[in-house]
Amino acid sequence: MQKLLEWVDDRFPLIKTWEEHLAKYYAPKNFNFWYYFGSLALLVLVIQIVSGIFLTMHYKPDAGLAFASVEYIMRDVSWGWLIRYMHSTGASFFFIMVYLHMFRALLYGSYRGPRELLWIIGMVLFIALMAEAFMGYLLPWGNMSYWGAQVIISVFSAIPLIGDGLAEWLRGDFVVSDATLNRFFAFHVIALPLILVALVFVHIVALHKVGSNNPDGIDIKKNKGPDGNPADGIPFHPYYTVKDIVGAVVFLMAFSAVVFFAPEMGGWFLEHDNFAPANILQTPPEIVPLWYFTPFYSILRATTESIMPVLSVMVALLGLLSVFTVRGVVAKSVMIAIAAVLVIGLYALEAKLWGVILMGASLVLFFFLPWLDRSPVKSIRYRGWMYKTALTIFVISFVVLGYLGTQPAEGPKVLMAQVGMVLYLLFFLLMPWYSKYDRTKPEPDRVTMK
Ligand code: HEM
Repeated sequence: MQKLLEWVDDRFPLIKTWEEHLAKYYAPKNFNFWYYFGSLALLVLVIQIVSGIFLTMHYKPDAGLAFASVEYIMRDVSWGWLIRYMHSTGASFFFIMVYLHMFRALLYGSYRGPRELLWIIGMVLFIALMAEAFMGYLLPWGNMSYWGAQVIISVFSAIPLIGDGLAEWLRGDFVVSDATLNRFFAFHVIALPLILVALVFVHIVALHKVGSNNPDGIDIKKNKGPDGNPADGIPFHPYYTVKDIVGAVVFLMAFSAVVFFAPEMGGWFLEHDNFAPANILQTPPEIVPLWYFTPFYSILRATTESIMPVLSVMVALLGLLSVFTVRGVVAKSVMIAIAAVLVIGLYALEAKLWGVILMGASLVLFFFLPWLDRSPVKSIRYRGWMYKTALTIFVISFVVLGYLGTQPAEGPKVLMAQVGMVLYLLFFLLMPWYSKYDRTKPEPDRVTMK
């Protein structure tokens, strides 16, 4: 064995990689529960790829055969039901893991310098994951698959001038059709998985370059022990490999419970309307995407003519706040100009287009978090009441928007979604102020162990 290892190591940096990224990679010793979800997201990615390969062996990417081929997998292929339920449950669990993983970053300020690029790569991953899930959802060619794709692709037609052409180009047809199914299949089974795997790789490389953050949000590299390693760090292997295995076992128990006992999760993981084949002549009573898209879908639907006055007051106030904050006549004039253009734009452009813009903004704003946050501390443990309140309101509005997105947009629910949307946006837009003026506590020099 030793000889073989040496032979390989002379030709490939095996031991060097093992040591750099595992045995001698020092991670803070105070990781807690929230640090499970990165490795769990990785585990779900593997589950999705492996179950996906087996599904592809029996699935037919053809509008005339797709629905029946999924039924064939469920009824006739040996263990086909298990493979399919693992894949459909895996999609929802992927988002649960990734949302918790992102929430951890909000708790401990993991997006702050020097981890800005790691965060940005994470956000690109998130968007790629959304694209992967959206395209996968068309493949069973159920009625909700069909109409969901129809609605989301037609969102692009709100873009002036190029919108209709763009939507047609994306579909490859005037309506969602076999051509759409074929290209979504190509993207879902090969293009996006490749992109996801590549992005996860660079995500980890970027993480290992700067080192992990931790629940105290302090830099462990500042305190080196006599051996030159961080005094508050422990080697990733064996300590965190073992910890992550515990997480994986608990995860697999929860995952199996859903796969075996509640794979549809009452319509949350597999929608009832998707058990009927796609029908171009019959719209489902309510077209709703799966739960992980609904917060953003809610923002799209909440942007109606009636919210424009509120949005324009919000823009005007933010403009005013910025004018008082920035220094110099030029900067102040730029702020006034931006606010004025936005207010005019709110009335000049159609509400439908603003829905698309705000839905996009609700994602794009995440990219700017490292620069919006001006707090002297990173972790929530040392932040004051302002950030804690803002984060709580943000999480509540995210969940409420998510729920409302599954409901018909009528009556008081529209108003609630509008309130949720404004609070969601304000979490980001007001952050430069509340994070700066918050009364923070001093950070400790060394990590704390509770
Ligand atoms: C396929 C999806 C993803 C996978 C497999 C993944 C994997 C990982 C892993 C294994 C770690 C190290 C362990 C940990 O800190 O939990 C990590 C850290 C991190 N990830 Fe991700 N990640 C994914 C998506 C994202 C997304 C969507 C974001 C945010 C937009 C993100 C932001 C971060 C940050 C900021 C860290 C460093 C956290 C810290 O040191 O406190 N990741 N990721």
